[in-house]
Amino acid sequence: MEKTARDVRDMAYAPYSNFKVGAAIRGESGTIYGGCNVENIAYPEGTCAEAGAIAAMVAAGETRLTEVYVVADSPVPVTPCGGCRQKLSEFGTGDVMVTLANLDGAVEKMTLAQLLPGAFGDHHMEKT
Ligand code: THU
Repeated sequence: MEKTARDVRDMAYAPYSNFKVGAAIRGESGTIYGGCNVENIAYPEGTCAEAGAIAAMVAAGETRLTEVYVVADSPVPVTPCGGCRQKLSEFGTGDVMVTLANLDGAVEKMTLAQLLPGAFGDHHMEKT
């Protein structure tokens, strides 16, 4: 996971923020998928590393993830943005471990439920 995330981070396209992020997610099959952030001159059109890794997983035919690793050259381990927390929750249960890291080797671990308490989910839509 760490190597995939670090390697794919090198491929990030981040000319506007100069903040490269790499993400690795493990699908239920055990296969690891990588993704990097891809920015755009129309800033809101940029996509996060986590979104890229999710897209790679889904494109390969998997829709459940069991582990996440995110790395950036940040002073403290990088955490997924709010939108990516929701995106990850679509494909993983609350007990999925998310490892947050920086290039200096600092690491923190949190579950998806800790990252997104009270996540909006299908149970909220049961009356519809
Ligand atoms: N970014 C990610 O790709 N993932 C994160 O977890 C945090 C932020 C990207 C978005 C943008 O390209 C750059 O980092 C600065 O916000």
